[in-house]
Amino acid sequence: MYALKTKPHRFNAKRVALFASALLALMPALAQAEPTVEVLHYWTSGGEAKAAAALKKDFEAHGGKWIDSPVAGGGGSAAMTVLRSRVLAGDAPTAVQLKSPAIMEWAEQGALANLDGVAKKEKWDDILPKRLATLMKYNGHYVAVPVNIHRTDMIWANPEVLAKVGASQVPSTWEDFNKLAEKLKAQGIVPLALGGQPWQETILFENVVLGIGGTDFYQKALIDLDNDALKSDTMKRVFDEMRILRGFVDEDFAGRDWNLATAMVMNGKAAMQIMGDWAKGEFLAAGKVPGKDFLCHATPSNHGYLFNTDSFAMFKVDGADKTEGQNLLASLILGQKFQETFNLLKGSIPARMGVPMDKFDMCALQSEKDMQASQTSDGFLPSVGVDMALPGNLTGAIVDTVTSHFNSEMSSQEAVDKLVQALDLAKE
Ligand code: BGC
Repeated sequence: MYALKTKPHRFNAKRVALFASALLALMPALAQAEPTVEVLHYWTSGGEAKAAAALKKDFEAHGGKWIDSPVAGGGGSAAMTVLRSRVLAGDAPTAVQLKSPAIMEWAEQGALANLDGVAKKEKWDDILPKRLATLMKYNGHYVAVPVNIHRTDMIWANPEVLAKVGASQVPSTWEDFNKLAEKLKAQGIVPLALGGQPWQETILFENVVLGIGGTDFYQKALIDLDNDALKSDTMKRVFDEMRILRGFVDEDFAGRDWNLATAMVMNGKAAMQIMGDWAKGEFLAAGKVPGKDFLCHATPSNHGYLFNTDSFAMFKVDGADKTEGQNLLASLILGQKFQETFNLLKGSIPARMGVPMDKFDMCALQSEKDMQASQTSDGFLPSVGVDMALPGNLTGAIVDTVTSHFNSEMSSQEAVDKLVQALDLAKE
């Protein structure tokens, strides 16, 4: 019975042909997967979260699906631990906020996707400063895309608090810094807001290395790890100054997050903080105005510039939706408009060359100017405290020494010996 109801063969063929052509017309739409990224990052403070949200918004406005994976913890060591366990479990995130030395380590393990396609199409070699482009490439191939240029050699100050001891400016030598801090301390004011976490103490240390030793010394001691520089009297003087600075922080500094230290300056609970310019993101997010509510000034630095570039590396993952997501994200990050929007919120300056700076404030303009000047004087140097300078094991040796010295009665000579020993061990 059923067979009798079937339509003649000729009619069926026509329907199949019609259906097939309709399907063919639909094919491009079906083949286009929704660009998707899971982004592992550690931008969780007020200012950072605003900047991260701008990236998410731009990505979604371009038809992408964004899965947010924030890992709280300034400086990113908690995020790096999560990353390692995710990769070990075979579950790498699509895009990860990483610094150049870590990018190289992951690339060496074959974990990163090649971004040459999008880089070529969008002429990254022409729009990125050469030094930055080099940091994003492994064996000549792009494996990451830079978002910004931060600097860590900055003092953030509350002008009202400084005025209480008659100061109207941020000091420009370490001697003056110490004198001003003593005055503040005598008035019962906390001179230096610090978060007692190893990476924050190392930011303090690298600033003192640069300020006391100068750019050549910084290069030799902290980048080339030259033994003569490490064992020198200059390094001993650096630890002497660290001991003095220890006397300028409040009792409750241990373990404090960097943004809470920024809040101390903002709320008049402390006079100054030495921190990267992501601190400016916090002031701005709270509606504060540079030059009026807070001051920004380079640390006594002998014309150096300690840079820190945030970038995203794309991990090798399966699926057209994810690959398309990676390419879309990479392309948006270097967009001119996005570079402006993001960096205005983040406190940094654009990684891409030629972005108009007319909307940027005095701190950013100073940063741009100092960065240009540092290029010609070999003063453009990577920060150790935020993992820009060295592979993880070597950074770890420096950070451990700095924090053990800062949080004990260790003498400067003992600290120098420990530093040399720790680095020797890490080099093996
Ligand atoms: C990152 C900044 C971030 C800071 C504090 C640094 O390592 O480069 O983007 O704001 O840590 O979390």
